[in-house]
Amino acid sequence: MKYIINYENKIKKVLNEKVYKYYIDTMGCALNENDSMKYSGILSKMGFEKAENIEDANIVLFNTCSIRENAEKTLYGRLGALKNRKKTDENFYICVVGCMSQQKHILEKIKESYSYVDIVLGTHSMQYFAKSFYNVISLNKKVVEYVEDKDELTEEIPIIYEEGVKASVSIIYGCNNFCTYCIVPYVRGREKSRKTEDILNDIKYLAKQGYKEITLLGQNVNSYGNDFKDNSYNFVNLLKDVEDIEGIDSIKFISPHPKDFSDELIKYIATSKKVSKQIHLPLQSGSSKILKLMGRKYTKEKYLNLVDKMKKIIPNVSFSTDVIVGFPNETELDFLDTLDVVEKVEYNQVYMFIYSPRKGTVAEKMEGHISEKIQKERFQRLKKLADEIIYKKNDEYVGKIYNILIEGKSKNNEDKYTGRTADGKIVIIDAKPEDIGKEKEIKIVSNNKWYLTGEII
Ligand code: SAH
Ligand code: SF4
Ligand code: F3S
Repeated sequence: MKYIINYENKIKKVLNEKVYKYYIDTMGCALNENDSMKYSGILSKMGFEKAENIEDANIVLFNTCSIRENAEKTLYGRLGALKNRKKTDENFYICVVGCMSQQKHILEKIKESYSYVDIVLGTHSMQYFAKSFYNVISLNKKVVEYVEDKDELTEEIPIIYEEGVKASVSIIYGCNNFCTYCIVPYVRGREKSRKTEDILNDIKYLAKQGYKEITLLGQNVNSYGNDFKDNSYNFVNLLKDVEDIEGIDSIKFISPHPKDFSDELIKYIATSKKVSKQIHLPLQSGSSKILKLMGRKYTKEKYLNLVDKMKKIIPNVSFSTDVIVGFPNETELDFLDTLDVVEKVEYNQVYMFIYSPRKGTVAEKMEGHISEKIQKERFQRLKKLADEIIYKKNDEYVGKIYNILIEGKSKNNEDKYTGRTADGKIVIIDAKPEDIGKEKEIKIVSNNKWYLTGEII
């Protein structure tokens, strides 16, 4: 916490002990959500309070995502909307952090078109936030800082976890895979595994606080430990150690890479009492030709063989996936291969994206980019097929009984509660407030297309 403590008192002095409120707007993936919890930790250590909404906040922090063009446009829209307030309110500060700000061309754009932004820090600069904010308020200057990827990880940052029974814990940062379409390796740096001891301590702490379900996070979780000097400890060892922690009932992980899904891992999941049998297994494309162009290092056949093996060995396994449609040079036949895999695997959930060229990646410079019209048409066809499969598969649940953890109130209906089957299906349940955090026997009574409804028996 050395990064914050030095500035906590200095900041209080400049602000005349006035308590500022902060609001964090998180875009992008679970890794960004995890980083935002650390920013919450930093800001509250700096003496600030959380604001309920952006209007009440003195400091707004945008934690940004660069994965597709739309994500970037979202930030620019939201910055634009704050321009007038920034002109008139001298106690109002705007900060941009995360994956967008780890790119030099974006820093330039913000400096030029959104010069009223006070702080811009990339993904390797979180520990400088308190110092940067102090410089902004004491010297009245903007801080736009670019820091290259570093070898060491910063572990001292305090985390404020979301309330509830589920929490996620980062186990590995960065990515070494350089899939040709993807910006992540450029904005998150090389793979760095956290020390096992630090991870296990975090999870033991969460278990003591009453958290029941842990999601282990990383861009490629099954590379965990590859960067350790002694590589006798890997992702499976970590899962086993997490499983031994008392109080944790369920363990999930996102995302594994199919190329690194070992037999050892499959066998472990099959026998584990706590590791979820709902596996997120990113496909990206069903065509071996496109997979090669994407640099994914597996073929259609290898992916399907892996799925078959898992279906044979892991009881009640089910899958979700990510698919990109309209990658450069994707023909109708290539797309049919994607539909074929989706049909064969029968995913519970397909997260689908239209290919978006990212500056500086290999695919951006490829020939054979295809028209938006064809991309959209293929997207709709994929969506239709995936939806049909999900709806059909949901019918298989009706009438069956599952042990389900009551996670909390339903977001859409205050009188109902939510939980998930072991393979990840959302179930809306008639329950009582005191049931939250408890596992109950639930009978599924109907299939409502996007979710199931259930009753406690
Ligand atoms: N590490 C994870 C992916 C994280 S990014 C993995 O390898 O599975 C989440 C998803 O965004 C990816 O799986 C991919 O489907 C999608 N994605 C990444 N870059 C994209 C791009 N340039 N255009 C469209 N979708 C993209
Ligand atoms: Fe991106 Fe590929 Fe790394 Fe996933 S594995 S983060 S898709 S480069
Ligand atoms: Fe986006 Fe960064 Fe995650 S680019 S998807 S927030 S790692």
